[in-house]
Amino acid sequence: AFCPCGRVCKIHLNEKIEKNNPKVVHSVDVEDLGETSAFCRCWKSKTFPKCDGSHNEHNETTGDNVGPLVVKKKK
Ligand code: FES
Repeated sequence: AFCPCGRVCKIHLNEKIEKNNPKVVHSVDVEDLGETSAFCRCWKSKTFPKCDGSHNEHNETTGDNVGPLVVKKKK
């Protein structure tokens, strides 16, 4: 994968999100979550930190098996 470090990088998972930030951290208020929320763990989402389904293409391309963290309210 291309990485802003200037080489094909097998170390950096994050290819494009807030690369000037030394550590990417997001916080979400529990009260703002809907019934179900899916958060990206593959670092490919265009709506990061929310999952946009980009993990599917990543998995098909690489043979990986990553997916989102799904947060649900108890029923
Ligand atoms: Fe990254 Fe879904 S887009 S886990």
